[in-house]
Amino acid sequence: MGKGLYITKGVAVACAVLAIGAVATIIALSVAYSKEKPGSEAASTASPVGTSTPSTPKEPWQRFRLPDTLAPLWYNATLRPRLEPNAEGLYIFTGHSLVVFKCVRATDLILIHSNKLNLTTFQGFHVKLKGLDGGPAPSLRKTWLEVPTQYLVVRLNSFLAAGSAYELYTEFVGELSDELGGFYRSEYIEDGVKRVVATTQMESTDARKAFPCFDEPAMKAVFHMTLIHPQGTVALSNSMDLDAVNISIDGQNLIRTRFEPTERMSTYLLAFVVSEFTYAGKTQGADDVSIRIWARKTAIEEGQGDYALQKTGPILAFFEGYYNSTYPLSKSDQIALPDFAAGAMENWGLITYRETNLLYNPEVSSNADKEKVATTISHELAHMWFGNLVTMKWWNDLWLNEGFASYVSYLGANYAQPTWNMLDLIVLNEIIGVMAVDALASSHPLSSKEEDIMKPEHIMELFDSITYSKGAAVLRMLSEFITETIFSQGLHTYLEEFKYNNTVYKDLWKHLQMAVDKGGIPLPDSVEAIMNRWILQMGFPLITVDTKTGKITQKHFLLDPKSVVDRPSEFNYEWIVPITWVNTRASIQQYWLVGKEATNKDIVLNADEWLVANIDMKGFYRVNYDSDNWERLLAKLSSKHVDIPVINRAQIIDDAFNLAKANIVNTTLALRTTKFLSKEIEYVPWETATRNLGYFYLMFDRSEVYGPMQAYIRKLVGPLFDYFRTLTVNWTTIPTGHTDQYNQVNAISLACKTGVEGCKDLTTGLFKNWMQNPAKNTISPNLRSTVYCNAIAGGGVKEWDFAWSMYKNAAVASEANKLMAALSCTTQPWLLNRYLDYCLDPEKIRKQDAASTIAYIASNPIGQSLAWDFVRARWSHIFHDYGGGSFSFDRLIKVVTRRFSTEFEYNQLLRFKEDHPGQFGSSTMALEQALEKTKANMDWVTNNKDLVLEWFTSEASSPV
Ligand code: BES
Ligand code: ZN
Repeated sequence: MGKGLYITKGVAVACAVLAIGAVATIIALSVAYSKEKPGSEAASTASPVGTSTPSTPKEPWQRFRLPDTLAPLWYNATLRPRLEPNAEGLYIFTGHSLVVFKCVRATDLILIHSNKLNLTTFQGFHVKLKGLDGGPAPSLRKTWLEVPTQYLVVRLNSFLAAGSAYELYTEFVGELSDELGGFYRSEYIEDGVKRVVATTQMESTDARKAFPCFDEPAMKAVFHMTLIHPQGTVALSNSMDLDAVNISIDGQNLIRTRFEPTERMSTYLLAFVVSEFTYAGKTQGADDVSIRIWARKTAIEEGQGDYALQKTGPILAFFEGYYNSTYPLSKSDQIALPDFAAGAMENWGLITYRETNLLYNPEVSSNADKEKVATTISHELAHMWFGNLVTMKWWNDLWLNEGFASYVSYLGANYAQPTWNMLDLIVLNEIIGVMAVDALASSHPLSSKEEDIMKPEHIMELFDSITYSKGAAVLRMLSEFITETIFSQGLHTYLEEFKYNNTVYKDLWKHLQMAVDKGGIPLPDSVEAIMNRWILQMGFPLITVDTKTGKITQKHFLLDPKSVVDRPSEFNYEWIVPITWVNTRASIQQYWLVGKEATNKDIVLNADEWLVANIDMKGFYRVNYDSDNWERLLAKLSSKHVDIPVINRAQIIDDAFNLAKANIVNTTLALRTTKFLSKEIEYVPWETATRNLGYFYLMFDRSEVYGPMQAYIRKLVGPLFDYFRTLTVNWTTIPTGHTDQYNQVNAISLACKTGVEGCKDLTTGLFKNWMQNPAKNTISPNLRSTVYCNAIAGGGVKEWDFAWSMYKNAAVASEANKLMAALSCTTQPWLLNRYLDYCLDPEKIRKQDAASTIAYIASNPIGQSLAWDFVRARWSHIFHDYGGGSFSFDRLIKVVTRRFSTEFEYNQLLRFKEDHPGQFGSSTMALEQALEKTKANMDWVTNNKDLVLEWFTSEASSPV
C-alpha cells in the first residue's frame, strides 16, 4: 500500500464504504483503500512533512498544539465495538461522530485530533461540514490525516466566520486493539468461555483514537454518547443511560444504549465500556447518588466488590465536606477491568480500575490489598472535583492534579479507615521514596513550562514520582503551615470560581492566599512566593541545625556529592522553609527560615537535652545536626526511643542514611541509628530501616560484607520475630493494628532473609500444606506474599510449577499478583529465564503485568543479570509492544539497573543508551537517573566497603 492518507502505524488501516447501520459484512481493516470519486475532495496524499522533530514547524498541522481558532461546544458520537474478530482476525469498532464547534477566530483550516482511525467515505466525502442553523459553510479544499501530529486536517476554500457555529461529521473504523489505550479490548475467561470487554483509557491523548475530537484538556465540551452493542452485554459511559432499545442491523439483534449528555468536560475523562459484567450497588446521600461497583460476574457474586461499595459512600461524603461542594454528578460507577495499564483512571462518573485496585476478598486478600483499594478509590474520587470539575489548562500542570489527589487520598482513606494510621503512611509511601529521586542532579522541577510539554511522549513522561509524590509532599506541607481548615476553604472558592473550566496553578495560589488573608494566618511571604520555590526549582534543602550556637542553615541536598547541577534556578536553590522541632521538654515550635541562614536561640540546648527538627516530616527537607545532638539522639533511641515521635524515629534513620550517602555524615553514624530496632516494634521505623539497609544488600550481597551484615540484621530482627510469634500465638492469630500487621510481615521476611531460626521451617511448612491440599489454602492472606516467596526460593521446579498453576487458576486478582511476584523468587536460573520468556507472551502474562514482572525478576540477586541481558536483547520489541500503555516502564529501568556499582556496568548502561536512540520514550529520564545513580554507587562502594565490613563484623559479635 502506498503512502496515503489512511495508513496508520501498525495495522494498515484502509477503508471501505461503511456506515453504521448499513454494514453488510464486517469489513476487514486491511481492505485496500479505494480512490475518492473524481470531483469530490482532492485525492489526498500524506503531507510532505512528516519528520518527528521539525525545528520550527511552518504549518499549523505540524504543531502539536491546537490553534486557538475553534472551540468545541458539543459532540454526538455513536460507537459500535465488535466483540468478535472479523474474517481477518481483527477486532474493530465502527462509529460516527458529529462535533459542533464555534469559530473563535476566522480561519480556513479545521484541525481536529484523530489517531489510528480510518475515515470512511459517505456520499463521496470523508468529512461533512455544515453551517449551524442552516448557515453557509465553506467548501472543502483538501482533507488528510496528518500522522505525526495526529490530526485530521480539513482545509477550506474560504473562511469560517468568527462567532459562527458549524458542525463536522465523520464516519470511521478503528481497531479495538489490545494496547490498553484508546478504545481497546480486555479479555478473560468465565465458565470456560473467552469473554471480550470493550473499554477505554483516554488519558492523556488517546480519546483521538476513539473518535475525532479536540483532544486537549481545555477543549471542554458536552458529550452525547451512544453505544451499539450485542445482546447480553451492558454499556456504560460517564453519564446515566437515557434508554436502551433493541435494534437490528443486517439481521443482527443489537442494543442501542443512549446516554444523557455529560457535564461540560475534557476529552481525557471520557469512558465507555461494553461488557457482560454485573454490579453491586446502592444509593448515597441526600441526592441519592447511585454508586455501583462493576466487575466480572463471578467476582461480584463472590462479593469482591463489597468492600469498595461499602467505602465509596463515606469517601464521597468526606470529599463533599472537605471541598464543601456536593458531588457534581448523579452517579458514580467504578469498574474493575482484567486488563488495565495504570492502577485506576478518574473518568468522570465511570472510574476504571485494575482489578487489584478495586476488588477485595477478605478470605484471600491482605491488609495491604485492602489499603490499596481504599487509597485508590480515595485518589480517584478526589479527582471528581479536583481535576474533573476544575481541570488544568494544559499538561504542564499535571503535578497539581496528581500531586493533589495523591495527598488528599490519604485524608479520604483516613476518614474511611480511621484506625489505619493513614496520615503516617503518607511519609513512607510518598515522601521518603521521592526524596531519593529529587536529590539527584538529574531530577526536575514539579512544574514545567507549557511550551516544553508538546508531544504525547512528553506528557506521558510527566507521570512520575516527582509529579505524584513530591506534588503530594509539598501540598501536604502547605496545608500544614496554613492549616487544613484554611486550605480547604481556599479549595472551596477555587472550585466555585472555576467549575466546568480550566486553571493554571497560580489560580490555586490565589484562592489559598485569599483564605490565608481572611483567616489571618501569619506567613513570611505570599503563598505564591513560598510555594514557587518548591515547585519551580527541583530538589529540596538540607537544613543544618546547630544546637550549640542556634544557627540554622540551608543548602540544596544532593545525594551524590560529586554531581553537577546544570539546571539553573531563579531562586538559586534556596527555599522558604517552615521549620518545626521537638526537644527534651517536648515543646513544639514553628519557625520560618528565609534565606541561607539564621540564628534562633530557642534551639540552643543544655548539656543533657536533645532536639529533632521537622516533626512528622511535614516539611519537605532533610535535617542534619551538630555531632553532639546526633549523639544525644542516638543515646535517647537506645535508652527510651518512645520519647521521640514514631515518624521522627523513622526520619532520624532516613536522614542519617541519606546524609551518609551524600558524604555529610559517617556511614557508621547511619548504621548506629538502627541499633535501637532490637527494641522497636513499630512499623514505620522498621520499614524505613529495611529500605535503607536494602541499599546495603544491593551493593554488598555478592561480596564478603554479606555474612557479617546478615549476622547483624539477624540480631536486630530476632526479637521482633519472637515478639510477633508470641503476639499471634505461634502465628495462629492476626495482630489487630493495621501497621502491626505490616510489621509482622516485615519480621517474617527479614527473619527468613537473614536466617533466623524457625523462619524457613514456618514458611516452607505452610506452603507444603497447601501443595498437599491445593483446594484449601490455609495461609493467612497477610503472610502469603512472604510465605510464597520464601518457599519458592527454597524449593525447586515442583514448587514453581505448583505456584504457576495456582497463578493461572486464581479467581482473585490480588492472589494472582502475589503468586506472580513470588515466582520471581526462585534461585534457579533456568526457571528465571523461562519466566522472563513468559513475560513477553501475553497468553501467559498479561501485557499490563509484563514490565512489573520483569522488574520483580530483576530484584532477585540471581535474576538481576538475567533480566538485564533479557531487557537489552529485546529492548526494541519491548519498547514497541509494551512502551505505549505501560505505566511502570520507568520502574523497569530503575529496578534492572539498581545493583549497578562498577565501571563495567556503567559502560554497559551507556552502550545500551547509545544502541537505542529515541527508543526510551517515557523512560528517557529514568535512564539518565540510572546513569547518575550508577556513578554514585561506584563511589559509595569504593569509599564505604571496608568500614561497613568492619562495623558489621564488630557489631555482629558484640552482645545486643
Ligand atoms: N490519572 C491517573 C491515571 C493515569 C496514569 C492515566 C498514567 C494516564 C497515565 C490516575 O488518577 C492515577 O493517578 N492513578 C494511579 C492510582 C493511584 C495513585 C492510587 C495509578 O494508576 O497508579
Ligand atoms: Zn490521579
